[in-house]
Amino acid sequence: MGVAVSWVSAVESMDAWPVPVDRLATMSTDATGTEPLPILLLNGPNLNTLGIRQPEVYGSATLADVVELAERTAGELGYGLRAAQTNHEGEMIDWLHEARGNISGIVINPAAWTHTSVALADALVIPDVPIMEVHISNVHKREEFRHHSFVSPLASGVIIGYGIRGYEFAIRRLVEVLG
Ligand code: DQA
Repeated sequence: MGVAVSWVSAVESMDAWPVPVDRLATMSTDATGTEPLPILLLNGPNLNTLGIRQPEVYGSATLADVVELAERTAGELGYGLRAAQTNHEGEMIDWLHEARGNISGIVINPAAWTHTSVALADALVIPDVPIMEVHISNVHKREEFRHHSFVSPLASGVIIGYGIRGYEFAIRRLVEVLG
């Protein structure tokens, strides 16, 4: 049985620039009876502008590149992937509520909400699955306000400063944690 996909349709309904959101949606795959439940990949605010926003910090890869890498890695390991990005905190919280019972684990780059959002941290535990936190940049080399994470205490692992390869590492580690 596939996952209830209201979070994917929310992605479809976004007309965010410059992410090819239709591609993000079609790249998501359903779990079948034989596959484990999919991995949920969440990206927080402003990550839809990857490739354009501060390339000296975040590199030139786009969010579509991230999703492609994540989907390829998950697929190699026998997992489907659900990928979604939003600039709206409540929307991400709703997706997490809907994900309960429908996913194996979470890979999340919470972006700025990492440092600010108790509400997101509270929602992240609702699916009750392992969480991997990813940051493209080395947040500890940056401003002090980026050094604190509300998500890290909830995470099985935190991958920081490896560029978008961090998403691949996070999926590989998540699958190890899932055993
Ligand atoms: C980020 C780091 C955050 O501090 C920042 O707000 C982001 C991206 C990263 O991937 O390096 O938007 O999570």
